[in-house]
Amino acid sequence: MNTSRGVILVSGASSGLGRAVAQRLAADGFRTYAGARSFASGAKPPSGCLGLPLDVLDEASAEQAITHIIDKEGRLDGLVNCAAFLTFGSCEETSAEELQAVLETNFLGMARMTRHVLPIMRRQHYGRIINFSSINGVLGIPFQSAYTASKHAIEGWSECLAQETRRFGIRVTLIEPGDCRNGSQKYRIIAKAAHEESSPYAVYFQGAVQQITHDENIGMPPDRVAQAVSKVLQSQNPPARRLGARPDQRLAAFLHSILPGRLFYRIMESYYAPKKEKK
Ligand SMILES: NC(=O)c1ccc[n+]([C@@H]2O[C@H](COP(=O)([O-])OP(=O)(O)OC[C@H]3O[C@@H](n4cnc5c(N)ncnc54)[C@H](OP(=O)(O)O)[C@@H]3O)[C@@H](O)[C@H]2O)c1
Repeated sequence: MNTSRGVILVSGASSGLGRAVAQRLAADGFRTYAGARSFASGAKPPSGCLGLPLDVLDEASAEQAITHIIDKEGRLDGLVNCAAFLTFGSCEETSAEELQAVLETNFLGMARMTRHVLPIMRRQHYGRIINFSSINGVLGIPFQSAYTASKHAIEGWSECLAQETRRFGIRVTLIEPGDCRNGSQKYRIIAKAAHEESSPYAVYFQGAVQQITHDENIGMPPDRVAQAVSKVLQSQNPPARRLGARPDQRLAAFLHSILPGRLFYRIMESYYAPKKEKK
């Protein structure tokens, strides 16, 4: 295994982008630990990586994974926080428990992992933290409110982190991918109440889900994002954020930053509307 570029832990590395990132980093010469729950039950790690059982919801699991790496390697140069899942459903119909579950994995899990590596990186006076946000961390997409809230939380938290840790030699980068292919359906949950045919949102919800599924199917290949992560980790001067998205999604992010909110909402509403309502 290549080891020359440093030791990296990638969370959520059993599937989708996390798996692609871990594989790319290993191929590019990083000693790469791939963390996920599945590795406790025999799932195969990404090629070139060392699989590590990791549940970001569990304090003891996070601590054990990091202690294991330090015992073996004596250092940890980078943490890539990818572990997450997505819940679809209107704001009204996503229960408090469903909202909490998304925030606990996506936001609190990321913060937990980061808190565990910070003392090590401070001592080393070196560390790279890459937090997976999303285009949903930049703008809101209808019927993805819980996920969008978690990604906005990651954005704000990471901005504070970057300013607090720079003086200790730590650099923080937010990765903001648009739709990518190969994310697993297993981690896309539909809120319980959104299944009801009598839901007042049913027809709009189905329209939005169709558009979202279409966008995922024509999404970027995961290795494109993985290459961007590898480049950030190799950079002397990593960027604060990197938006990796199709041109139309980049345009949406740009319009979000310049248009009056009400106008932007109308454009998004129409994009995610059921086919017969599209103008
Ligand atoms: N796919 C996209 O289009 C897209 C777009 C923008 C942003 N992103 C972001 O990119 C990252 C990867 O998304 P994806 O869709 O490519 O992946 P995915 O296929 O949905 O896989 C999710 C990963 O998270 C892990 N995970 C979930 N709960 C966990 C927990 N408690 N502890 C540890 N690991 C846990 C899963 O592993 P186990 O079940 O084995 O633990 C799995 O490896 C996420 O942060 C996502 O928000 C994805």
